Amino acid sequence: MSRKRDFVLLLSEDESYLVELDGKDSNTKNGMIKYSELRRGIGSKVKTHLGKEFTVVKPTIMDILRKGIKRTAQIMSPKDISLILAYTGISNDSLVVDAGTGTGYTAIFLANYLKGGKIVSYEKDSMFIKNAKRNIEVSGLGNIQLKAGDVTKRIDEKNVDLVVLDLQDANKTVENAYASLAFGGYLVVYSPTVDHLMRSVNAVKKAGFVKIVVVENIVREWQSELTLRPKTIGLMHTGFLTFARKVI
Ligand SMILES: C[S@@+](CC[C@H](N)C(=O)[O-])C[C@H]1O[C@@H](n2cnc3c(N)ncnc32)[C@H](O)[C@@H]1O
Repeated sequence: MSRKRDFVLLLSEDESYLVELDGKDSNTKNGMIKYSELRRGIGSKVKTHLGKEFTVVKPTIMDILRKGIKRTAQIMSPKDISLILAYTGISNDSLVVDAGTGTGYTAIFLANYLKGGKIVSYEKDSMFIKNAKRNIEVSGLGNIQLKAGDVTKRIDEKNVDLVVLDLQDANKTVENAYASLAFGGYLVVYSPTVDHLMRSVNAVKKAGFVKIVVVENIVREWQSELTLRPKTIGLMHTGFLTFARKVI
């Protein structure tokens, strides 16, 4: 069993650092902070040896996902994962299957909202599993089960409330997803391209899913310094989400 890791976030007006409380001093761009300072607790003000002040705050899951995990495969973006929660309305005791695990970003994000439930995340590549395992440990969440396996071949779970597919061969996995879902359960397929979307929607229809909804979630960030206007550079297209439900 892995040990529980403890983190704090050091926050100033212009910088933030996720720091593990592991007995060691921490470095920032503006100098070093002694471990004895970090231990003073949430809400305390700490200073680097060069005089830069930070407030010690409790990190949220987004701080951990932004600063604590190591990325391998391309992640699903928070704007898209949050839409899965909003559109399916799954409750915190749900059973969710996610594939492929990749970085584990989607699994960790969703697991944080499933404290009374569980997420089973499938990955076929052992290198990704190793990294995702470490990321899940950093997240401190105990409700994620990592499974080595190819979801085009099998998904073991039954009566699942939600299956999320973010993988190349999503269209070849849809039938297995259908078999594992509870009646009324949701399938969500993430498609980065139109070709992937077309293949996925055809497979979803063929498998007998109903209430098929395809959306693209566009979030436009604005700048608030100098002048208030949309930012000229940003994350534009990420992907399409196909939502579908099992009834029969
Ligand atoms: C785009 S990444 C998923 C990223 C993940 N949603 C996240 O947010 O971190 C796709 C992952 O699916 C895995 N994969 C591809 N085909 C698979 C299959 N048939 N069964 C299980 N995993 C698969 C790949 O190895 C890769 O790690």
